Amino acid sequence: MALYRTWLFIPGSEEKKIAKAGQLDADVILFDLEDAVAVQEKEVARERVKAALLAQAIRRHGANERANEPHYFVRVNPPDTPFFRDDVEAVAKLGITGVVLPKVEENEHVYVLEHLLDQWEADAGTRQPPIEIVPLIETARGLYHAYELAKASKRIRRLLFGSVDYALDIRATLTKQGHELLYARSHLVVASRAAGLEPPIDSVFLDVHDSAGLTEETRLARQLGFQGKLIIHPKQIAPVHDAFAPTSEERAEAESVIAAYEQSVAAGGGVILLDGKMIDLPVVERARKTLDTARSMERRKA
Ligand code: COA
Ligand code: MG
Repeated sequence: MALYRTWLFIPGSEEKKIAKAGQLDADVILFDLEDAVAVQEKEVARERVKAALLAQAIRRHGANERANEPHYFVRVNPPDTPFFRDDVEAVAKLGITGVVLPKVEENEHVYVLEHLLDQWEADAGTRQPPIEIVPLIETARGLYHAYELAKASKRIRRLLFGSVDYALDIRATLTKQGHELLYARSHLVVASRAAGLEPPIDSVFLDVHDSAGLTEETRLARQLGFQGKLIIHPKQIAPVHDAFAPTSEERAEAESVIAAYEQSVAAGGGVILLDGKMIDLPVVERARKTLDTARSMERRKA
């Protein structure tokens, strides 16, 4: 099971931060060419990201491939900007897993990118697997169309949530409890599932110094059905990984649920009570998922 818990933004213009990418333990390195980069820096940032991707592609082909290599994604500028096409052309060839498409609101936005990637992949000969498109939902229109957007291309495997732009768009006040985001978060989880995608990825937590707040928000995202979180600082990697890991209590409970149910089935029974709580098939299924997730995370650490 591939893990997509932490998506670390690295501004494409910042050489020092880009140079760190290869040593960080995030599941995804997300180079940004969009809002973290000033307009006058767009070309320089594109060249820096290109060079970094090329270097890591060469390194990966070398003998010392690192275990737990992160996936590389790039957030390009939106299709209605003069930078979009050059951004995509610059990075598509360099071993990235996918392109993050910001401010997606209509299927047409996805089609424009899909067309470019189809063209490039056809020119280059087949490439397995195809480059993913990851729509970033960060406006009311985008959220409203989330289900259609999720189905707009076979390249889409999951959606990202951008809460800062979204709150600005709907004129909500961003708070740490996040009540104002609950509807959007749950809508994205349901739209993703209904469209047959993987669970979505939650938005950034802006207060880099508030580790407890980050943990709380990540636990909420997990509780709602997200599989990961966008992050902005290396300090945020460990708390997010921890918050997505099943706790030792959850693991112990899952193990006793499975054991009790198997015992009941072996004795010719079915649904039973364990410590006053009903256990039937979906409960067992959830317990198995909890243990699978715990094992994948243990393996990733090893
Ligand atoms: N990626 C890689 N390295 C990072 C990093 C990131 N996103 N954020 C910080 N670092 C590095 C710094 O370079 C610094 O390295 P050093 O110790 O060798 O000097 C170290 O981590 C500590 O950084 P710190 O001084 O705490 O932060 P900062 O002031 O350098 O940067 C931010 C703070 C918020 C500007 C920075 O974290 C950042 O650029 N985040 C991403 C922003 C972004 O892409 N936003 C767009 C999407 S919302
Ligand atoms: Mg944004």
